[in-house]
Amino acid sequence: MHWSHSFYERQDALTGCYRTPIHPFHTALAARVTAHRGQPGTLLDLGAGGGQFAVAAALAGHRVTALDLRQGAGEHTLELAAQHSTPVHTLTGDFYVADPGGPFDAVCCWDGFGIGEDDEQRHLISRVAGWLAVDGTAYVDVFTPWYWAHHAGFTRRTERYSQTYGFNADGCRMLDTYAPRGEAALTQSLRCYSPADLRLLLAGTGLMLAEVWPGGAYDPRAGVFHAEVSLGESMMYTAVLRPA
Ligand SMILES: C[S@@+](CC[C@H](N)C(=O)[O-])C[C@H]1O[C@@H](n2cnc3c(N)ncnc32)[C@H](O)[C@@H]1O
Repeated sequence: MHWSHSFYERQDALTGCYRTPIHPFHTALAARVTAHRGQPGTLLDLGAGGGQFAVAAALAGHRVTALDLRQGAGEHTLELAAQHSTPVHTLTGDFYVADPGGPFDAVCCWDGFGIGEDDEQRHLISRVAGWLAVDGTAYVDVFTPWYWAHHAGFTRRTERYSQTYGFNADGCRMLDTYAPRGEAALTQSLRCYSPADLRLLLAGTGLMLAEVWPGGAYDPRAGVFHAEVSLGESMMYTAVLRPA
């Protein structure tokens, strides 16, 4: 079984990270996407996790489909949607094979790109191209190689587990390992791309890189997240993709 089919389930059981309320960050991100698009529309959230962004986007007026591999993710999304009295359509499935319908004015993939190998990532982008409306936009978080190479080896310890960052330089993949006390460790491994590398990946997929929005950076030594840093310091960036 591929690591991604157990990692997020175990990460959620260990940390509860997908069962949180909506954070102002999600509301601000939904507002940014709405402003960038000019108006709310149909929106597909790929790998939607607990649905915090999906529900924030629905509250901003988008008609949202939230797709995630985990059934528990969809259940939490529906609970959040009910709490906020807004409709969200949930789908449990694998974004490499599922059919979410469409066309969508916006397709978002936050904090989840890079799970597969390059050919699988290219396949996923081609699928996104097929789901987008003619004038649609995709927003995809992409991990940078430089942040993860620089911070490899950092370990954070809690009572229940330790979390260690790593970097596979040959494969250009960030590694994120949780070691729970008394249980087997679990690792996620995500392919990292600079914008130049992403442009190479996009060739022939039907989408092109229109804009790069630098993301933030976590300073592991200070334990502080800086939301506004330059691209060269970012742990990830949002690739804004448009039909080529
Ligand atoms: C790091 S989490 C990000 C969740 C959410 N987008 C956020 O920003 O909070 C990645 C999510 O992608 C989902 N996922 C992983 N592989 C998937 C796949 N093949 N198809 C659909 N969802 C997937 C996981 O279940 C998990 O909820």
